[in-house]
Amino acid sequence: MNITLRVWRQKSRDDEGRMVTYQVEDVSPDMSFLEMLDVLNEKLTLDGHEPVAFDHDCREGICGACGVVINGVAHGPETTTTCQLHMRSFKDGDVIDVEPWRAKAFPVIKDLVVDRGAFDRIIQAGGYISAPTGTAPDAHAMPVPKADADRAFDAATCIGCGACVAACPNASGMLFTAAKVTHLGMLPQGQPERAARVVKMVNQHDEEDFGGCTNIGECAAVCPKGIPLDTISQLNRDLLGSLASGNPK
Ligand code: SF4
Ligand code: FES
Repeated sequence: MNITLRVWRQKSRDDEGRMVTYQVEDVSPDMSFLEMLDVLNEKLTLDGHEPVAFDHDCREGICGACGVVINGVAHGPETTTTCQLHMRSFKDGDVIDVEPWRAKAFPVIKDLVVDRGAFDRIIQAGGYISAPTGTAPDAHAMPVPKADADRAFDAATCIGCGACVAACPNASGMLFTAAKVTHLGMLPQGQPERAARVVKMVNQHDEEDFGGCTNIGECAAVCPKGIPLDTISQLNRDLLGSLASGNPK
């Protein structure tokens, strides 16, 4: 396959940035999207040009490092991570636009790489427990209703990629925050901080300049881990309960 790429190039946070067009030839349909970018970068390097900066680590869909907007859709045309998207999802001769996540809370560092430190600070604000959980057998000794365990596990599959923010017209980070709140809040070990956690994490979310959730649902539509929209309902229930208790410390 021969592909025309239009890639966002931006030297630094302060640079204005612009789309640059490249031709990539002999692309195998079995290449991942990142492998196709590797081919482009190898050519750019051999030609003496600066390669395109993009984030990646595991390339197996589990670390959450990768993520670009492809033809206007976070992670591209399949509901998966950018590293697990394959070129067979495109056609020979396609023109593909590649851009970084666009959100005030995720400033561009270089080209397609954004600073997602805001997610780390939301986790630091409340994404932990203080209960000693012991070794694995001790933890298993505490019975957890199956439905709660399943909901906690499903929420815990959030990999922090940020696609939900990139897809949201409000650039809200509420699906990510709700996944973290739900993951810990459904388990007995997460109860001591449950009321305070949701308030602290939502406050941090708002301080980071993410937008508010208006139930549009674009976040859940692109989430590679299928985090459902009703985790945000769970967050709202916890938040209202905590504020109503009058002492969310
Ligand atoms: S909720 Fe989904 S889209 Fe958002 S950070 Fe987690 S895995 Fe990524
Ligand atoms: S590189 Fe780890 S999820 Fe894509």
